[in-house]
Amino acid sequence: MTASWWQTGVIYQIYPRSFQDTNGDGIGDLKGIERRLDDLVRLGVDAIWISPIYPSPMVDFGYDVADYCDIDPSFGTLSDFDDLIVQAHARGLKVLLDFVPNHTSDRHPWFTESRSSRDSPKRDWYIWRDAALDGGPPNNWISDFGGSAWEWDEATGQYYYHAFLKEQADLNWRNAAVQVAMYDVMRFWFDRGVDGFRIDVLWHMVKAADFPDNPLNADYQPAMGEMHRVLQLKSTDQPEVHGIAADMRAIADSYSARGLGERVLIGEIYLPVDRLMHYYGRERVGVHLPFNFQLIDAPWKARSLDKLIADYEAALPPGSWPNWVLGNHDRSRIAAKRGQAQARVAAMLLLTLRGTPTLYYGDELGLSDVPIPAAQIQDPRELREPGLALGRDHVRTPMPWDGSESAGFTTAKPWLPINTDWPTRNVARMAEEPGSILTFYRRLLAIRRTHSALSIGDFALLDAEGDVLAYERRHGAGRLIVALNLGGRSQSLQLPHWARDCRPLLSTLADAASVEDDVLPLRADEGVILTTD
Ligand code: GLC
Repeated sequence: MTASWWQTGVIYQIYPRSFQDTNGDGIGDLKGIERRLDDLVRLGVDAIWISPIYPSPMVDFGYDVADYCDIDPSFGTLSDFDDLIVQAHARGLKVLLDFVPNHTSDRHPWFTESRSSRDSPKRDWYIWRDAALDGGPPNNWISDFGGSAWEWDEATGQYYYHAFLKEQADLNWRNAAVQVAMYDVMRFWFDRGVDGFRIDVLWHMVKAADFPDNPLNADYQPAMGEMHRVLQLKSTDQPEVHGIAADMRAIADSYSARGLGERVLIGEIYLPVDRLMHYYGRERVGVHLPFNFQLIDAPWKARSLDKLIADYEAALPPGSWPNWVLGNHDRSRIAAKRGQAQARVAAMLLLTLRGTPTLYYGDELGLSDVPIPAAQIQDPRELREPGLALGRDHVRTPMPWDGSESAGFTTAKPWLPINTDWPTRNVARMAEEPGSILTFYRRLLAIRRTHSALSIGDFALLDAEGDVLAYERRHGAGRLIVALNLGGRSQSLQLPHWARDCRPLLSTLADAASVEDDVLPLRADEGVILTTD
């Protein structure tokens, strides 16, 4: 098998508002991403995924799209985008966009048309239902951002459905015209040279046809957020979604079939593993990579993680390719959850497991969640259900590039506060420090690139005890051991007989570990890669 770029490569997620501002408005832009491409090459990643950059009222910061085929002026122009693609490709970097097919902004012309009258030709492009007999919403479905998922439209006397904000109306994917229009959007960007899409909330796209109530969640606690009042069994993950994923895959594959390069589809899907696996496709092929978010919430314990990894590997359908994620623009940062020392161990795990890793910008600096003063909170999720720590602003703060004012991110006031430790936690400074987490990331990514065992090799867990998680990666003659101490006390790993002459390639601690006969001692919070070369 020849592996594709999306199998061997490392994906880096950019939250464009926070990456690099070049026009002095405190918001990152496409020219800023272009300016930083060389930094990404130095880091050693292979592809960037950019969160939405389309024209948007920004009620959900771009996940409310008002035009699928243009660029929001705050980010630049289509011509800036074309330049970015050329410059990225010239450096061997692939570019993935965020495709948001489940819902549009309520300002999208399709929705304006749809809500104009019950007879509108686009009425059925969205999900309109009559009120229940008591005049209330058609069923008990709750928005992921709290409150009923149904919004009453006075003018036409019906409710429309929105899985997220009322400003994000769900498209009706059972309507063939919606499918045609949205598939054209994919072709529009593929034709412009985009190498793939991350598909927003793929599992939400099709709802049960007769809109029954969702079952109540017996374990609901108000602190979870109101969406958890019900189990989303009827409003999400319906069998028909797989036909849509297969259609999208066919479009992506039509480019490789014409010799135009492999285009990849990554699905955002928060489901248990058995449900997740269906998104690889059964009768027809589904998305290349249904995002595997398990490491984000997993207990940080060696015995739970090795079980999780083994179960995931075992559940993968034949021929499918695994993938792993530690964080994204919706979830608390790894350094905030696990601390600085374990953030390195987590990076070693992410970049040495079998499958495609996706990094979240700033994690390579050990960036933590940044506290946001109440007056500066912007995320609608936080504003709608305050006090439950559901907000996401603190993981979307500007990238600290250097020690200059505003961390080299902007010349204006940044749209969100910058981490207060930016004078020391910034790219320019940490790139010079041999012991920094950034230097560690660069070395780790370089080792991943030179050792094909890490990108395409077989994977096998090794027997380990205590806080140690250990596994083998093997490709041809190349054989590596990864040993991770997930705890704060020293541990050791009994090496298998074939590994007795191995030597350390990299440690998460500044100096390299050493092997003592057939035992690898691991210091507190230490991860090590050993090679038999
Ligand atoms: C996805 C995005 C999130 C957004 C939501 C609605 O979960 O990752 O940021 O708010 O979809 O589009």
